[in-house]
Amino acid sequence: MSTALELNALSKRYGSFVAVENAELRVERGAFLTLLGPSGSGKTTILMMIAGFTEPTQGRILLDGRDITALPPERRDFGMVFQGYALFPHMTVAENIAFPLRVRGMAKAARDEKVSGALDLVQLTGFADRLPKQLSGGQQQRVALARALVFDPALLLLDEPLSALDKKLRAELQDELRALHRRVGRTFINVTHDQDEALSLSDTVAILNHGRLQQVGAPAELYERPRTRFVADFLGKSNFIRGHAEPGLVHAGGVTLRQHDATSGDVLLSLRPEKIAIAEGDNALDGRIASWSYLGAGYALVVDTALGALRVHLPSWRAPVAPAEGLLLRIAFAADAATIVQDDADAP
Ligand SMILES: Nc1ncnc2c1ncn2[C@@H]1O[C@H](COP(=O)(O)OP(=O)(O)O)[C@@H](O)[C@H]1O
Ligand SMILES: [Mg+2]
Repeated sequence: MSTALELNALSKRYGSFVAVENAELRVERGAFLTLLGPSGSGKTTILMMIAGFTEPTQGRILLDGRDITALPPERRDFGMVFQGYALFPHMTVAENIAFPLRVRGMAKAARDEKVSGALDLVQLTGFADRLPKQLSGGQQQRVALARALVFDPALLLLDEPLSALDKKLRAELQDELRALHRRVGRTFINVTHDQDEALSLSDTVAILNHGRLQQVGAPAELYERPRTRFVADFLGKSNFIRGHAEPGLVHAGGVTLRQHDATSGDVLLSLRPEKIAIAEGDNALDGRIASWSYLGAGYALVVDTALGALRVHLPSWRAPVAPAEGLLLRIAFAADAATIVQDDADAP
């Protein structure tokens, strides 16, 4: 794969406030990249700099190796779907989708063909003559996607396009968006604060906090091997355990744990709740259920142990016993279940 878009030391300051600091990012051609971070972390600012609507304070943006930092937005020609970027209410679906083509001066016959292709793409064939108000929220977003893709843009930029939809519809549109990405094979850059969406949709996730990129990688890599406490905590739930390392071992809470990446010094371990089993084995500990809740697909337990209170998630079908407060049990986790993470200042 080759690099489609590259950010080099990209920064944006508003007065003395740093909205984005020194962002370095490469997006492969045809990839689905998600910028993920809490509200105010700089996601929209990065997207707006890519789109050309916000001028960077420093740094460069390259498209196919060409510097586009100073290029105005209309000459970048990227497709965009933003949260509040509504359809034109007085235009039909077909007219909405044809709009970017009309602006570009495309002849009617060519336009009609493109519009019909775009309607197929988002599976809205037969809706051409409807007005936006005659469509559901999800269908309207699909029209917005068709309008953003109809002129074959090099990049599609999406800023929380699904965040206004309810949970079930959002899940449907996520599937739709992923399928759409496969069908068109273009480079998508999506912004969200929704961890599940980022993990399930993306080839690559870039995690932002306070305007700084924290870690960039494949979803599983970020989830399984977070580098910092922030990343571990933001991308799902985690237990954090302080200890002292020697090669292959971590001493914590009066017990010695086998830990695959331990070398020396004070360390912080991140341990996902679903990596802990009710079992004997490596790193087995006595535990006592302090509280529990039923989640449908599983149980969430809080278990008091020598390492402190640990969250434990069990799939319902694998729970060996019905949880009860005060129940004594043995828990265990493998030597490679936990990861040593950097204890960044943003710790919860
Ligand atoms: N035009 C602006 N003037 C001053 N501050 C801004 C401006 N735009 C954004 N910011 C600030 O920059 C930070 C990042 O904003 P934004 O990129 O919109 O975050 P996100 O999209 O991750 O929620 C926020 O603290 C926001 O208040
Ligand atoms: Mg935003």
